[in-house]
Amino acid sequence: MEMKTQILTAEQLDVAVELLKNGECVAFPTETVYGLGANALDEEAVKKIFLAKGRPADNPLIIHCASKAQVFNLVTEIHPEAEILMKHFWPGPLSLVLSKSDIVPKIVTGGLDTVAIRIPDHPLALTLIERSELPIAAPSANTSGKPSPTRASHVYADLASKIPAILDGGSTGWGVESTVLDCTVYPFRLLRPGGVTVEELREFTAVELDAGVYEDQQNNEKPRSPGMKYRHYSPNATVILVEGDNIPSRINQLVKEQDLTTTKVGVLATSETKQLYSGLTVLEMGSRTDLRQIAANLYHLLRQVDELELDLVYVEGLTNDQMGMAIMNRLRKAAGYKVVYS
Ligand code: TXA
Ligand code: MG
Repeated sequence: MEMKTQILTAEQLDVAVELLKNGECVAFPTETVYGLGANALDEEAVKKIFLAKGRPADNPLIIHCASKAQVFNLVTEIHPEAEILMKHFWPGPLSLVLSKSDIVPKIVTGGLDTVAIRIPDHPLALTLIERSELPIAAPSANTSGKPSPTRASHVYADLASKIPAILDGGSTGWGVESTVLDCTVYPFRLLRPGGVTVEELREFTAVELDAGVYEDQQNNEKPRSPGMKYRHYSPNATVILVEGDNIPSRINQLVKEQDLTTTKVGVLATSETKQLYSGLTVLEMGSRTDLRQIAANLYHLLRQVDELELDLVYVEGLTNDQMGMAIMNRLRKAAGYKVVYS
């Protein structure tokens, strides 16, 4: 259905509240990326999210709450160590997968008996949830398969005329999505690396990494996190991730094999090595010593790859430690798992 998409300022937040109460969906900022929210307890409202994004029905949504009391209504049991994580990391970029209560409709969970929940650390998101007095189901507010939106303009580019409103809160802080942790098994299982690192989680509990953190799950019929089997974060260009000790020289070597008169080639490079590529479009990710900065820039740069109409992009690989685990997970997906070692 075609509709006019309103951009709302923080002062117009109550317009978004009314839309949510009336069973509509609204895009809103969180500390990670923009979400496309709707009343999690209203099947018809949640359907609109799947429709606007073109999202497969078996890919479950995260429910956003403003308080623990609200969370307790949505689940049947909570492992004591999951409670400890809530205490330390909420509000914040950590989604906990718990067994769902009967009031959570199956459309939200993609048919699963579990539900992912988090309390976001963003004043507009929290006010929106509090004033609507609803748990808000919200995936990232991008068209399915595209990089997640970190600015209102990214949401607009993907979803204009498909949703009634976008609440504009400027650029989001983290830039990559929340960490998704399955707390229905023990040790807890990390399904998606994100804003809270595995190193931080392990200070409080035992965590195993799901295979989807490193490997392609496209041919896995039943991955633990259904979202892992879908191609994600992909620009239209061919993306190749280059890892190892001699990344710039390997990239320059690969570029030599290309016909630059017919192929528009770019590099996503770190600040330390960006000057080593001549004659190419270089997009600067940030310094290797500041992974948070790289995370914050990542999706905007992947969208720029399309705006610049690049055909082929080489991406400098980073460490898999700390925030590097989430960044590299997204880069491998953006590259469709095309990785070259130097
Ligand atoms: O930071 C974020 O998490 C953002 C903001 C808006 O909160 N949201 C987000 O949602 O990234 P989405 O839908 O793009 O990603 C949710 C991920 C998917 O990989 C999905 O498969 C997984 O969480 N997930 C959701 N519910 C699950 C469940 N019950 N069991 C396993 N995985 C689940
Ligand atoms: Mg998403």
